[in-house]
Amino acid sequence: MKKILMVCLGNICRSPLAEGILKSKVNGKDVFVDSAGTAAYHVGNLPDERSIEVAKKHQIDITNQSARKFTMKDFDIFDSIFVMDKSNYHNVVALARDDNDIAKVSLILDASEKSTLLEVPDPYYGGNEGFDKVYTMLDDACNEIAKSLI
Ligand code: 4NP
Repeated sequence: MKKILMVCLGNICRSPLAEGILKSKVNGKDVFVDSAGTAAYHVGNLPDERSIEVAKKHQIDITNQSARKFTMKDFDIFDSIFVMDKSNYHNVVALARDDNDIAKVSLILDASEKSTLLEVPDPYYGGNEGFDKVYTMLDDACNEIAKSLI
């Protein structure tokens, strides 16, 4: 089974959406998808209401998720770790023990064919339109990730 982890800062806005979107595209495939945050501010919380809403608009339910913090053990569990931005990348790689761990980590938009951006912008302090944009970016990246999975 292929195991994929989505990572952002708080694990309440971007990575829960990435988790929900990828899960919706790998139905029937032998894939496990999870998400985590590099910070502990929101541990145990539901995704942000705005992420729940934008997912719902696209018939995806993410209300079964609760925020958790990324740990070094995740390198042992997951095959691929997709981070939303460069700051997440540095925080995750700081916990890597060797090159094998580091090789598992990549910016999620590197997977995207359409995006000219490298980072998924943090929508936390903005309005709902930021969440729509994040959804579109993640949907495109997850299409490519899902295609790459058997
Ligand atoms: P996320 O967004 O990393 O996409 O979950 C954020 C959520 C919370 C905070 C920052 C970003 N915060 O500062 O509490």
